Amino acid sequence: MRSAIIGSATLLEGDALEHLRALAPGSFGALFSDPPYSSGGAFRSDRSQSTSSKYQTSEHRGLYPEFQGDTRDQRSYLAWSTLWMLAARRAVRPGGLGAVFTDWRQLPVTTDAFQAAGWVWRGLVVWDKTRAGRPQLGRYRNQAEYLVWGTNGPRKLAGQVADGVFTHCVDKRKRHIAGKPIALMRDVMAIMDGPVLDPFMGSAPIGLACLELGLGYLGIEVEPAYFDIAERRLREAAG
Ligand SMILES: C[S@@+](CC[C@H](N)C(=O)[O-])C[C@H]1O[C@@H](n2cnc3c(N)ncnc32)[C@H](O)[C@@H]1O
Repeated sequence: MRSAIIGSATLLEGDALEHLRALAPGSFGALFSDPPYSSGGAFRSDRSQSTSSKYQTSEHRGLYPEFQGDTRDQRSYLAWSTLWMLAARRAVRPGGLGAVFTDWRQLPVTTDAFQAAGWVWRGLVVWDKTRAGRPQLGRYRNQAEYLVWGTNGPRKLAGQVADGVFTHCVDKRKRHIAGKPIALMRDVMAIMDGPVLDPFMGSAPIGLACLELGLGYLGIEVEPAYFDIAERRLREAAG
C-alpha cells in the first residue's frame, strides 16, 4: 500500500477503517469526510449497480474510474458508518468538529451512525448545488446535499461564526464521479482547525482546500486510480 507526503498533506492508500484505527488519539483538529453514500436507489439491487450507472447519466459514463464501498444496504451502512466514525472520533481532539456528507436518502442513517459513534450531533449544513441538476416533471428539484455536523464532546462557545448554507455548482470538469468543488470544501472549513482528517479522499478536494488554507491534512483512499488522481492534483497544486 502506498503513501505520499506532499507539503503538510499525507496521503495513505488502503482501507479507511484499518488506517483510522492506527491513528494516535486526539491527533487531529477536525474530521471532514465525504464517504460513499451507498445511495442511488431504494432497493439492494439498485445499490449494487456500478457507481457510474447509479450517479451518472449515460452520456457521462466511462469518464471517471468507478469507486468502491457503495453497495451496502441500510443495516450494514449503519454498522459500518458507526465503526469508522467511532475510530475517526478517537483521532480528533476533544471539542473538535466533525462533518460528514450525505444525501436525502441516507440522511437518517447517517445521523444515527454519527451519534452511535459518540459524536455530539449539532446540526446540518446544506450544500445548495443550484438549479444545474436534471429537473423532473412534477417533482421538487433534488438540488441539495447535506453535512451532518457535530463535535467530539463539548465545544467552547468562542471563535468565528460560519454560514450554514453554501451555494456552489458541481464543477463542469470533475475528477471523480462524486466530485465536489474545492470552493465548497474551503467554505465549510472556515471554522475547522487542522490537521484535517479525510478518510474517503477521492480526488482530494478537501486536501486541495487544506493546502490553500495552510491546514495540515491526512487523506485515505482505497481505490488506486483515485489515489493516483489525488496525488497528482496535490503535487501540481503544491508546485
Ligand atoms: C464520495 S467519494 C469522495 C469524493 C471526493 N469528495 C471528491 O470530490 O473527489 C468516496 C471515496 O471513498 C473511497 N472509499 C470507499 N470505501 C473506502 C474505504 N473503505 N476506505 C477508503 N476509501 C474508501 C471511494 O473509492 C471513493 O473514492
